[in-house]
Amino acid sequence: MPKVTFVGSTGPEHTVDATVGDSVMAAAVKNGVPGIIAECGGNCSCATCHVWIREEFAPLVGPPNDMEDDLLDLAVGERRGTSRLACQIRLTEALDGLVVDVPPDQS
Ligand code: FES
Repeated sequence: MPKVTFVGSTGPEHTVDATVGDSVMAAAVKNGVPGIIAECGGNCSCATCHVWIREEFAPLVGPPNDMEDDLLDLAVGERRGTSRLACQIRLTEALDGLVVDVPPDQS
């Protein structure tokens, strides 16, 4: 069961037990993590699940897909090199311990 830690800009960290095959967004929403709004329910059309992947996990998580890449330009938080939409990241055992930052404008 992979663990994912969400770090807000002002609040405490939230480490959640996630399910393999779920998205990072689903792991956040199921556990009430603040700042992951996910208005579109994971359909890659709202950008309210924007997160910054910690550098050490970026190679494992990989880059955004084309649709996600376009949508990230519309995200509320600053776009960075490790920006991803949490609904587009599927959790695997290899991602156990993943740490992501939640942009302050979302929380
Ligand atoms: S939940 Fe809407 S884009 Fe991720």
